[in-house]
Order: sequence, then C-alpha cells, then structure tokens
Amino acid sequence: MKIIHTINELSSEISLRRNKGDKIGFVPTMGALHDGHLSLIECARDHSSCIVVSIFVNPTQFAPNEDFGSYPRMQESDAAKLKLAGVDILFLPTEDDLYPDGKDCNIKMGDAAKGLEATFRPTHFDGVVNVVSRLFNAVKPDIAIFGEKDFQQLQVIKEMTAFLQMPITIIGAPIYRDNHGLALSSRNAYLSDSEIEIARSLNKILRQVCQTRNLKAAKDELLSIGFDKIDYIEMRWNRILAAAWLGKTRLIDNITIK
Ligand code: PAF
Repeated sequence: MKIIHTINELSSEISLRRNKGDKIGFVPTMGALHDGHLSLIECARDHSSCIVVSIFVNPTQFAPNEDFGSYPRMQESDAAKLKLAGVDILFLPTEDDLYPDGKDCNIKMGDAAKGLEATFRPTHFDGVVNVVSRLFNAVKPDIAIFGEKDFQQLQVIKEMTAFLQMPITIIGAPIYRDNHGLALSSRNAYLSDSEIEIARSLNKILRQVCQTRNLKAAKDELLSIGFDKIDYIEMRWNRILAAAWLGKTRLIDNITIK
C-alpha cells in the first residue's frame, strides 16, 4: 500500500495506474475505521482494480459546538487495517493541501440537502460537498463508495456530482450492523456499555415503524427506553430515517420501507 500525503504525488500515482489500465475506486473516510468501512472497501473492490482510501477529519463539516476536537484519530492502526484489506493507495491530505485558498465553497445544493440532518446541522452538508468535491478533484476516481448509513449524505453527493458534471459513478453500500442490529459508526466509540444496549434498540424500533407507520409512537418509545432527545424520525426516499441522542452521542440510522 502506498501512503501519499500530497495532491501532486497522488496525481502522478493515479496517472501511472490509469496508464496501466486500472479503474480507480475511491472510499473517502474520516478514519477511526471499523468493519463498516472495510465493507465499503469490499464494495469498491467489486467495481474497480485500484482502491484509494482517504483519511481526513474534515473541519468544515463540523459546527463549532460539535466533536471535531474529540473525533477519534488513530492513523497508525487505520493504516494497518487498510494494508490488510488490500488497499492500493492511502491518501492522507493536509488541511493546507485540500484548502489552499481558504474554505469557501460555491457549490449549489439541491433538494437532498433540505430538512433532516440539515435542520439540525445547518452547515454540515456545505462542509461535506466542500471536502468531497476537493477530494474528487484530487483522486479523479471512476467510482466512489459511500455508506447508506449516511443516506442523506449519499443523496447530497449524488446531486453534487451531477451538478458539477463529474464523470464519477456514486455507489451506495449497505449499512453494516453488529449482531444486534446496531449500525457501525466511529461515534459508537463514545458510548458506554449501557448506552450500547439502548442504541441497539434504534434499529428494532425503525423496523417496527415499517409495519405501523406510526412515527409518533416510535419517538415516544425511543424516549421511554432511554434516548435523551430525538432530532427526527421521518420518511423519505422510501426509507425511515432517524437521528437520536444518547447522552453526548448522536446516532443516525435508516431502513428501507418494505
Ligand atoms: O461520511 C464521512 O465519513 C464523511 O462525511 C466524508 C464523506 C468522508 C467527508 O468528510
């Protein structure tokens, strides 16, 4: 696995790989890698012959009151996992390289960026499209993989890629869950043992909503079993999507309506 820190070096390496006939698959991450990320890499392998993974904890997608400072950073163990997973290139950009002229972003947001997460994290998707567009320009992949856990983010990225006319196929990978249905997330590391037990009910309750379509009852049940606050539980894109707080940890999840 090649570890690359600059866009210049990355561009040369990608050109070499392309000239050899490789199809470039890209998995952008913020690190603290878990089996969910490894499943994205497996998905990239199905669609490409050279896999690039980036790790960059992107400051522009965190609001000042959010967890940018405490977001788990574990570059060495992440790199070891990626090497074992057969990743070809690990891209570790610096803030200066990705944002050389400041952090402004003039990308027009479409409908996907309205409501849900955007209601509670109004600057979040600006930061996501800002960094992902810059990463796409740096990597120039043929395909890019995003997890369906961040389902709204996946829709926002699809709209952004179409808006910027980037020749990149965006692929959504299924949510990776533990044996009890909890969607894996780097932020699960913040949860205590008792909170993990409560967190595992989120998916169960979403599955119940699929049958009952009773969002209000689901919200009440989440609060009664120990969630502290429900940001939303809504239906969109034939999915039920939810964001809920357990102590200082904000969890999101979603499922297809069957
Ligand atoms: O989903 C994430 O981990 C991040 O939002 C992403 C896509 C890597 C952009 O920083």
